[in-house]
Amino acid sequence: MESNITDFPKQEPSKDAWFANWFDDVFYTKLYGHRDQEEAERAVELFVSTCAPNLPASVLDVGCGSGRHSLALRRHGFEVTGLDLSASLLSLAKQNASDYPDIEWLRQDMRRSFPNQYDAVASFFTSFGYFQDQSDDEVVIDNMRAALKPHGVLFFDFLNAHNVRKSIVPRDVKEIEGIRFTQERSIVNDCVVKNITIESDHGVQQRTESVRLYTKKDLQELFTSHGLTIQQYMGSYNGDEFDEQNSDRLIMTMRLS
Ligand SMILES: C[S@@+](CC[C@H](N)C(=O)[O-])C[C@H]1O[C@@H](n2cnc3c(N)ncnc32)[C@H](O)[C@@H]1O
Repeated sequence: MESNITDFPKQEPSKDAWFANWFDDVFYTKLYGHRDQEEAERAVELFVSTCAPNLPASVLDVGCGSGRHSLALRRHGFEVTGLDLSASLLSLAKQNASDYPDIEWLRQDMRRSFPNQYDAVASFFTSFGYFQDQSDDEVVIDNMRAALKPHGVLFFDFLNAHNVRKSIVPRDVKEIEGIRFTQERSIVNDCVVKNITIESDHGVQQRTESVRLYTKKDLQELFTSHGLTIQQYMGSYNGDEFDEQNSDRLIMTMRLS
């Protein structure tokens, strides 16, 4: 572990939990290498224009991955903490943000309570809904709420479940740097499940992703029952109004009730 990544390894998730392995996998970074900084900048622009915490302000990026939003937030002048379970993505984040050594990186399961309070907490790009037990998602909501200072704001960027169900692509194949990724998608018990077959020089391997398909109504109930007041629903990083039939994303901003 890099020296200034704070590691909270206690209560490690079970080793067979898909999220504890897949995000740490070198093939994950290959498959999703196209997720770019420009997209993250647009998400952060929306965060700034809708949540607008006055500077100086602290932001916790929950599920920060390789740090693309943390970096954009820091460039906007926020004090940033990026939190993630994946040691390899956090190392990458630290490298990507080497111009900003003051960004704090925490390796922690989001189901464990967060160590501080912040002016804003953000969950960018579907970093939610991964757990087999729905009550774990509620623990994450509780943790995010508890990590807000009074008048703090929560920015929550999730998929549009309705759109995912409607436009699911059952199978596609991608070839990236000589590696063949066959992605098979299905809906199982209200989760979108992706089974990925990876064919490389190392043989054939299987990986899985699963995201619970929370609808706008589900999330509204969950967040309000956990003490948050919803302020806005948006459907894209342009800030368009959320349209369940067509929007790519479901982006919500909330405050402590
Ligand atoms: C879809 S990725 C998004 C990453 C980043 N927000 C981005 O858009 O580039 C989800 C992130 O959540 C992290 N994650 C998954 N399960 C986690 C857990 N239990 N605790 C903390 N982070 C977790 C993964 O390691 C991964 O970096």
